[in-house]
Amino acid sequence: VDRRFDFPGRAATTRIVVGPGVRTRLPELLRTLGASDVVVVHDTALAGLAAGLAAPLAARTLAVPAGEAAKDLRHVADAAEQLRRLGADRGTTLLGLGGGALTDFAGFLAAVWLRGVRFVACPTTTLAMSDAAIGGKNGVDLGGRKNELGAIRQPDLVVADIDWLSTLPDARWREGFVEAIKMAAVLDAAAFARLGALLLRLAARDAAAATTAIELAVAMKMAVVAVDEHERDLRRWLNFGHTIGHALESAADGALRHGECVAIGMLAECRAAGAPAVVTAAIEQALGALGAPTRCPPQFADPERLWRFAAMDKKARSGEVPMIVPFELGSGRLVPLTRDALARALS
Ligand SMILES: NC(=O)c1ccc[n+]([C@@H]2O[C@H](COP(=O)([O-])OP(=O)(O)OC[C@H]3O[C@@H](n4cnc5c(N)ncnc54)[C@H](O)[C@@H]3O)[C@@H](O)[C@H]2O)c1
Ligand SMILES: [Zn+2]
Repeated sequence: VDRRFDFPGRAATTRIVVGPGVRTRLPELLRTLGASDVVVVHDTALAGLAAGLAAPLAARTLAVPAGEAAKDLRHVADAAEQLRRLGADRGTTLLGLGGGALTDFAGFLAAVWLRGVRFVACPTTTLAMSDAAIGGKNGVDLGGRKNELGAIRQPDLVVADIDWLSTLPDARWREGFVEAIKMAAVLDAAAFARLGALLLRLAARDAAAATTAIELAVAMKMAVVAVDEHERDLRRWLNFGHTIGHALESAADGALRHGECVAIGMLAECRAAGAPAVVTAAIEQALGALGAPTRCPPQFADPERLWRFAAMDKKARSGEVPMIVPFELGSGRLVPLTRDALARALS
C-alpha cells in the first residue's frame, strides 16, 4: 500500500508505504521528497540493516543504544554533536530505522535539531509499524518518566518493509497486532472482523497477513490522528486497554511486555466497565487466536498495588480514572475506572 495522508488546514502531508520489499523503493521515494543528503539513525542491534539501507542512498549512519536506553536528553545531545561532526545541515534528512524507541528518539532529534529537519521513519517492529511510528508523536524520557519531553510532528514519509519483521522474536511479533485489535475494538467493527479472519495466519507469522493487518492499523490510527492530532478527544480512544495495561506494566516492572499488558488490560477494562459479555468474549477470542495472554498472572493481580499505579494516570480525578471501553464492537464509551471496579475485574 502507498497512501498520502493530509492534515486539514496545513501543508503537512505524510506518505506511508507498507509491504514486503518496499525498502527498495527508498531511493525513489526520497528523491520525490527532495531529500538528497540522508543520515540513517539506527539502534546498535540493527547496524547491518542500516548499512544495507545507507549504501544505495550514499547516506551516513549514526548508531544509538537499542531500546529505551537511547531515549534521554544525553543521547539526544550526543547524536546532535555527531550530526555536526558528520557535516549534516538544515538540508539533511534524518531517517530513523528501528523499533518504536528508535523512531521516538530519531523523530524527536529531527524535530529539535537546527529547529527541525526532514524526518523519514523506517519502523522495524510490528508495534512501531502499526502504532509508534504513525501519528507524529515522538519523544524521550526524563528522570524515569516515559515520554516526558516530546513533540507532535508528522514524519514526511514512513516506509514499513514487512521483510524486516522476520527477525523479531514471537512475543515482539504479536505486539503490534494487539494494538491493531485494540484500535478496531473501539473504532471499526469491519476492521475487527477483517483482523479476526487473519489471526491464525498472523500467529503463524504469515507476511501477507501481517501486511494487511498493519495496513488496517495504519488506516485506523491515521483516521483518528487526522481529526485529533493533539489528543483532545478522539485520540484518547487509542488508549483502550492502556489504563489498566500501563498499571500492570509498572507493577510487573519489566516482567511483562507492553503488548501483553495491553491484551490483559483490554479484558480487565471491559470487565471493570461492565461491557456486554459478547464484546468481551469477542476480544478474548481474538487475543487468544493471536497467542496473546488473556489472564493476569496472579502474582501481578494485586488490586491495591495496581490501583496505586492506575491512580497516577495524568487524567485521574477524585478516585476515578477515565477510560474508553467498547460497549459494542467498533465504538467506545467513556467510563470511570474506580478502585472497586478494578478489584472486581481482577477477582
Ligand atoms: N510515539 C508513539 O505514538 C508511540 C506509541 C507506542 C509506543 N511508543 C514507544 O515505542 C517504544 C516501544 O517500541 P518497540 O517495542 O518497537 O521497541 P524498541 O524500539 O525498544 O525495539 C525493541 C527491541 O527490538 C529490537 N529490534 C527492532 N527491530 C528489530 C527487528 N526487525 N528484528 C529484531 N530485533 C529488532 C531493537 O533493537 C530493540 O532491542 C517505547 O519507547 C514506547 O514509548 C511510541
Ligand atoms: Zn500501546
